[in-house]
Amino acid sequence: MSVLVTGGAGYIGSHVVRLLLERGDDVVVVDSLASGDRSRIGDVPLATIDLAGDAAVAALRAVLTEHEVTAVVHLAALKQAGQSVEQPARYYRENIGGLANVFAAIDGSDVDRFVFSSSAAVYGNPDSFPVTEEMPTRPINPYGETKLAGEWLVASAGRALGINTASLRYFNVAGAGWPELGDSVPMNLLTLAIDAVHRGEQPRVFGHDFDTPDGTGVRDYVHVLDLADAHIAALDYLQRADERSTVLNVGTGTGASVLDVLTQLSESSGRELSPLLMDRRPGDPGAVIADVSRMSEKLGWRARRGLEDMVGSAWQASEQARQGAQP
Ligand SMILES: NC(=O)c1ccc[n+]([C@@H]2O[C@H](COP(=O)([O-])OP(=O)(O)OC[C@H]3O[C@@H](n4cnc5c(N)ncnc54)[C@H](O)[C@@H]3O)[C@@H](O)[C@H]2O)c1
Repeated sequence: MSVLVTGGAGYIGSHVVRLLLERGDDVVVVDSLASGDRSRIGDVPLATIDLAGDAAVAALRAVLTEHEVTAVVHLAALKQAGQSVEQPARYYRENIGGLANVFAAIDGSDVDRFVFSSSAAVYGNPDSFPVTEEMPTRPINPYGETKLAGEWLVASAGRALGINTASLRYFNVAGAGWPELGDSVPMNLLTLAIDAVHRGEQPRVFGHDFDTPDGTGVRDYVHVLDLADAHIAALDYLQRADERSTVLNVGTGTGASVLDVLTQLSESSGRELSPLLMDRRPGDPGAVIADVSRMSEKLGWRARRGLEDMVGSAWQASEQARQGAQP
């Protein structure tokens, strides 16, 4: 019996893989290596498959049989919201087409549990916070749409195939559980700010007149190791769950502002920062904070790590990556 992690060679997936191994589970990874890296998973069995490709179903079926897979954690996806606006068909093909292929392969297999990487992007710009799972889902870009449609497919396929499923709506993921597993692509506030510091530039702050304590945007940052641990808790929950499908917010239930993050970055890096204050970006909400009571009530899970750990570990990982990249 083993756990299949799709996208396991990526940022979040490699943390999930490591925690599964630490508790003694057998793990197999499927990844196209489009953005993932083999070195993140050591000698864990890897099948290099493009899940959105024509040959995916047969190739994945062979993996499920060979490794006697009974549980799947599906993280493989494209994740750049801005890019999804430019290339919506590509995002639907990869994120929804790939997911449909995974369920086509699972049909008739021994898989009985399925955890899906969803996102707070399904909420779009929520009217108020904390954001509960019951609040309206109104994604504002194709990426968020594919996560919402993905949740629907997961629930429907779970019912049809007799599989217990959970969709985890991640809030803002940050940090590194191990220095070699940092988020290497500068795409969110923290990774962009770290990148700016390394290039000798000042981080930019979009919006400083929100209705928040310091005027800058507030988000719910969750440590990637806590998030990985939430996948393990979800797999265990699905084994005992008396419901076929569930959606769960994964955050801390507390917010940090852009300036809080940058102040922490200044402390963690030992660099003085003078952030550049810019106008708001259209559509950006002031504060988005998760209601995390469902995770704690159903799974007995809550995040344990705070901003200092997230920012400090992300900085350390970026330093290590830079040293590794030097000739
Ligand atoms: N990082 C975040 O802040 C965040 C927030 C919310 C949700 N998510 C979701 O979490 C998941 C993992 O994100 P991540 O940050 O680790 O990204 P990542 O890019 O580091 O990892 C994604 C992995 O999936 C693989 N992959 C992509 N397309 C594939 C395909 N067609 N077939 C097989 N493998 C494929 C990539 O090679 C990569 O290893 C994604 O589903 C993403 O949408 C991430």
